[in-house]
Amino acid sequence: MATEAQRAERLVKSKQRVADHGEVFTPSWLVNDMLDLVKSETERIDSRFLEPACGSGNFLIPVLERKLAAVNARHGRSDFEKKHYALFALMCVYGIELLPDNATECRTNLLETFATFLKLGHDDVWRRAAEAVLAVNIVHGDALKMTDASGQPITFPEWGYLGRGKFQRRDFGYSNLTERGSFSGTLFEAFEEHEVFVPSRTYPPMTVQELARSSHEGEPA
Ligand SMILES: C[S@@+](CC[C@H](N)C(=O)[O-])C[C@H]1O[C@@H](n2cnc3c(N)ncnc32)[C@H](O)[C@@H]1O
Repeated sequence: MATEAQRAERLVKSKQRVADHGEVFTPSWLVNDMLDLVKSETERIDSRFLEPACGSGNFLIPVLERKLAAVNARHGRSDFEKKHYALFALMCVYGIELLPDNATECRTNLLETFATFLKLGHDDVWRRAAEAVLAVNIVHGDALKMTDASGQPITFPEWGYLGRGKFQRRDFGYSNLTERGSFSGTLFEAFEEHEVFVPSRTYPPMTVQELARSSHEGEPA
């Protein structure tokens, strides 16, 4: 039997949006059942999840919550490591969404999940760094055409945590990444991954302060 909270979940915004965009959100009980099918991946801090029709984040939020629980279990004793790994967990969550209000809601929901976990204030450097990450990880665009809202090909950052407070970023074309599975049985199979997947841009390692600064400047330093 459904609980009160489950009944209160709003799964449809309007009939028009359902007709125009197939916008029906997935209830949390179903999301959790589906995530349990890949439970160990959802509990790995550095596993990467991309939802190509992410709505307001019904899948991505619980993925982040599970990752943050893993951060707490593994790095909860050190404030420095807890914060850096929490940001890294957020860096491993990606989405594409066609409708601008959903994309904005998705970023806000993920930001609040992250901020609540770290008990962040409104003008905290970690909050601003998270905003910078979400601005590039959650794309307002068309997952089928693989283009962003301005019609440009979608690119995604691949983030890494190098340790000692430094993060790495390399950008890759989304269309390039989706070809990954189609190489088996072709000549490309003989190539190493780094020979086939070449980043469109590589950034110097950056600290959380440098990332936070980029949330105002639009681009990481
Ligand atoms: C069925 S809803 C699912 C939303 C979310 N994944 C969930 O389970 O709650 C589909 C979502 O995909 C979005 N969408 C539809 N076509 C899309 C496209 N070509 N590219 C990206 N998003 C799209 C819709 O705006 C809507 O938010």
